[in-house]
Amino acid sequence: MAGVSVQAFRRQGRRFGAGLVCSEMVSCSGLHHGNERTLGYLRIAADEHPLAVQIFGSEPELMAEAAQMVVEAGADIVDINFGCPVRKVTKTGAGATLLDDPDRAERIVAAVAGAVDAPVSVKMRRGLEDGSRACLAVGPRLVEAGAATLTLHPRSAKQMYTGTADHSVTAELVELVDVPVIACGDVTSRARAQAVLASTGAAAVMVGRGAQGNPWVLREIVDGDEPEPTREEVVAELILFIRETVREMGERRASGFLKKFYGWYLGRGRFPRQFKQELVVLATTGEAIDRLLLAAPGAAAVLDRLEDEQPPVDDRLLELPVSIYGGG
Ligand SMILES: Cc1cc2nc3c(=O)[nH]c(=O)nc-3n(C[C@H](O)[C@H](O)[C@H](O)COP(=O)(O)O)c2cc1C
Repeated sequence: MAGVSVQAFRRQGRRFGAGLVCSEMVSCSGLHHGNERTLGYLRIAADEHPLAVQIFGSEPELMAEAAQMVVEAGADIVDINFGCPVRKVTKTGAGATLLDDPDRAERIVAAVAGAVDAPVSVKMRRGLEDGSRACLAVGPRLVEAGAATLTLHPRSAKQMYTGTADHSVTAELVELVDVPVIACGDVTSRARAQAVLASTGAAAVMVGRGAQGNPWVLREIVDGDEPEPTREEVVAELILFIRETVREMGERRASGFLKKFYGWYLGRGRFPRQFKQELVVLATTGEAIDRLLLAAPGAAAVLDRLEDEQPPVDDRLLELPVSIYGGG
């Protein structure tokens, strides 16, 4: 998820039971032009495998080149974005637009699959317009072109995130292709995951928004564990997330980036609403951490335990230019 699936988020997902996690989407033209921010997305550390890195673009040759770059950076799977509904992306002919241009979509998948040995997967929406069934026409062609799995988020691009994911379309796609299909959309609990798997025959579910500020849902889905953490656990996870994010992108970028996460962690009835308001106006992440520990002093011991369990720092660093590390 763009603006969400940073290293800290992906690591946390794995720690809570996700079998596979994916990077934010990475622009193939950004990689082609050596854009520093884009290259920063290729920061993959030793403890991060298996990892899928998602690329987007509309030119088969550039997508093939990008695929080679992400595999060289350590990606285990190259995922192609045919689902992004955001205008900034679709107006360039990338993302969900490609569902309306199956020839080009097929050429992109063939070029990418031909360029790398790593498995190539595709993530798509159902189509551009409400009720569209484009994914059912395009999906089998993408498999033919070399896609090893398909992930379907069965909303239209027009829907953005409104309405509900119509997994009857996922079930149809499962029938049409002989590769694993991953069902994505509105999976927010174990019961929902089980219902989607049973009704679609999909090989797996993918969880997006449900895991924002709520990694416990992954443990619930995988193991059937109690979904609601204690306040101490929430605060400890949030502080670990803050610290890792600061290490990843530097204090200046992290302090803005993290604000949405405060709401995600502290909402869900876990803390009074004004507590989040208090945190988002603090100038530094250090102050936010102090305030969080004041609200849940018992979190310090939980945090110590979590930090002890983290992989060694050496495994978490990567040889990329210092300016990328520093976030600017
Ligand atoms: C903030 C945000 C960013 C997203 N970025 C991406 C992305 O970069 N690539 C992608 O394939 N899907 C992206 N998605 C879509 C999700 O992967 C997922 O398909 C969608 O949210 C439905 O699943 P959910 O109901 O579990 O959230 C994004 C969604 C959100 C909310």
